[in-house]
Amino acid sequence: MKILGIETSCDETAVAVVEDGTKVLSNVVYSQIPLHHFTGGVVPEVAAREHVVKIVPVIKEALKQAGVKITGNELLKGIDAIAVTRGPGLLSSLITGVCAASTLSLVSKKKLIPVNHIAGHIYANWLAPDEENKEINFPVMVLTVSGGHNELVLMKKHADFNLIGESLDDAAGEAFDKVARLLGLGYPGGPHVARVAEMGNALRFQLPRVFMGKDNFDFSFSGLKTAVLNVVTKEFESNGRLREEFIQDVAACFQDSVCSVLSDKLLMAGDKYKVKEVHIAGGVSANKRLRQMLEEKSAGKYYFDHKGKKVNLKSVPVLRYAKNISLCTDNAAMIAGAAYFLFKNDPSAYRRSFNVLADPNLNMYD
Ligand code: KG4
Ligand code: ZN
Repeated sequence: MKILGIETSCDETAVAVVEDGTKVLSNVVYSQIPLHHFTGGVVPEVAAREHVVKIVPVIKEALKQAGVKITGNELLKGIDAIAVTRGPGLLSSLITGVCAASTLSLVSKKKLIPVNHIAGHIYANWLAPDEENKEINFPVMVLTVSGGHNELVLMKKHADFNLIGESLDDAAGEAFDKVARLLGLGYPGGPHVARVAEMGNALRFQLPRVFMGKDNFDFSFSGLKTAVLNVVTKEFESNGRLREEFIQDVAACFQDSVCSVLSDKLLMAGDKYKVKEVHIAGGVSANKRLRQMLEEKSAGKYYFDHKGKKVNLKSVPVLRYAKNISLCTDNAAMIAGAAYFLFKNDPSAYRRSFNVLADPNLNMYD
């Protein structure tokens, strides 16, 4: 089953064609990063206007790369359904994707499958699974870490999402973005913090590792952000500027603090719920240090608990993340991929054209 996916929930205009939820035939992403660089973040009206300009060229390119006919009597020949991100995200951005998908579904008479953006991130791990671990086995514990969401999700089967824990304040990506701003680095912050952190000393500052108590699967990054602010303010007061080495060290300490909590909680949750696999998904899952910590702890069969005490894992689940980092950040292949499994699980999971409404606060856990 070939699905055309459309994603416009934030600042990426993305369209892809995916076969059977795993094979990516095309994956085109037009990123607005240079546009939002000047404001240091996404201005919703600016993002929305750019989606309107780019959506048609991006659709055409994705179809062309997948070898799908765009015009004439054979409109979208070979495509079985159209999937679109319905939410959560910026309403003014979501509308462009939903409108484009509805129109295409109306004129081509193809099914329209609405997809939750977070479900999309989760299904990115089903796209081109690695050769060693081709088969994904349930139950799976997924850590979703992005700019807008930070959750632990237990899946016992396809399209079955159980919320185990979530961030009570900032998502991990949001914390990366805010710390990058404090350090005078670019937008989006995550990749910039990660880049400078590679040269830094992760042991220089004592930053909090906020675990929030025994058996607690929620997250909180606001205290850590305040701790970074205090260190930065002190440095400004004594030196009048932030030296390169200082920036690198703060970035490394901050990154280690976030990644240690994320990796420990994911492995702790996986152990508690006796899962076969643990996955990371979303923009922050591109982070090398997070991947490295998870690899090390999985290989050593341990995690650190709320007191920082080493705990042995009862069993060792398969660790999975998208090797190709363009599948971690926003893209439409993940939306087309998720749509396939949602539809396979429930053949009534499609809507008539124009019966899908964008929902900025869409929840997938009811
Ligand atoms: O999934 P995504 O593209 O969009 C949302 O759904 O939010 O995630 C974007 C977030 C941003 O906060 C960005 O700073 C962060 O992912 N990010 C990273 C890295 N690459 C992107 N954070 C840490 N390290 C990275 N390498
Ligand atoms: Zn996202």
